[in-house]
Amino acid sequence: MSRYKTPLRYPGGKQKLAPFVLELMKKNSLDGGHYAEPYAGGAGIAIELLLSGDAAHIHLNDSCSGIYAFWRSVLSNPEELCRRISRASMTIQEWRRQKEIFSRQAEFEQIDVGFSVFYLNRCNRSGILSAGVIGGLQQEGEWKMDARFPRNELIGRIEAIASKKSAVTLRNWDAEKFILKHVPKLPPNSLVYCDPPYFHKADRLYLNHYDPEDHARIAKVIQSEIRHHWVVSYDGAPEILKHYSHRQSFLYDLQYNAAKAYKGTEVFFFSDRLKLPEESTVPYIDRALKNAAA
Ligand SMILES: C[S@@+](CC[C@H](N)C(=O)[O-])C[C@H]1O[C@@H](n2cnc3c(N)ncnc32)[C@H](O)[C@@H]1O
Repeated sequence: MSRYKTPLRYPGGKQKLAPFVLELMKKNSLDGGHYAEPYAGGAGIAIELLLSGDAAHIHLNDSCSGIYAFWRSVLSNPEELCRRISRASMTIQEWRRQKEIFSRQAEFEQIDVGFSVFYLNRCNRSGILSAGVIGGLQQEGEWKMDARFPRNELIGRIEAIASKKSAVTLRNWDAEKFILKHVPKLPPNSLVYCDPPYFHKADRLYLNHYDPEDHARIAKVIQSEIRHHWVVSYDGAPEILKHYSHRQSFLYDLQYNAAKAYKGTEVFFFSDRLKLPEESTVPYIDRALKNAAA
């Protein structure tokens, strides 16, 4: 398991793809440069690149105010956040209290909201903020609500990120604004990784989701406005494939299983000048690269 982890669990989190993104950066001499995620969420790849030193600076953006409050607390108030994590009470009463804070964010301080996001993300099923608590309200399941709450480990992750806060830029903008106003200021040796809400099931997984017209609009913005190298990942829905039909791409399967026939369920699109590695150390990507070449 990797030592460089984000403290957030994220539905569909892309941390498993970090080795491939690093291969891509190396192939294009982008390692040691800047790295940006307009849809950061748990920022699995960005955090790995930051903590391993493979990115000199990461730029995170997410339009969800709760996710932003969490990351802002990590960067600006890590001692208090970690103090709350070390003392967090693992009871249904406390879980209800954190849900209440999350649903009435405007009445609370940023650190309260940031902590509530973290608490719900770690105690809810699959890390989904609107889902039920692990083990159920009666806590009768095999797994209890603290099953994903290894305090010391999580505090360690937060402290590691906070120690590099001067190498992190954080925004709470809509992705389109971030792409139009922030990305143009990045140095030339930067990579922009866009992981928008999935076309299917997105409304169930995230608090923010896109309608089909939003997917179409952002596809245009990414392809016509980003002058830096970029990568986009999606579920392999035909509606999405058609928006990027002129770009380099391949389908892969994050749930790849050597015993089953290869079936791509996710897709990567790449900017035209980006050189793709011929093969990868990541098995599902390696297979997909070979498939794309065939
Ligand atoms: C697929 S998730 C990103 C997951 C992330 N790559 C990871 O590994 O954890 C999409 C994220 O985009 C955010 N989001 C949704 N719509 C957005 C928008 N219009 N602008 C910026 N962020 C948005 C959601 O809040 C969510 O955190």
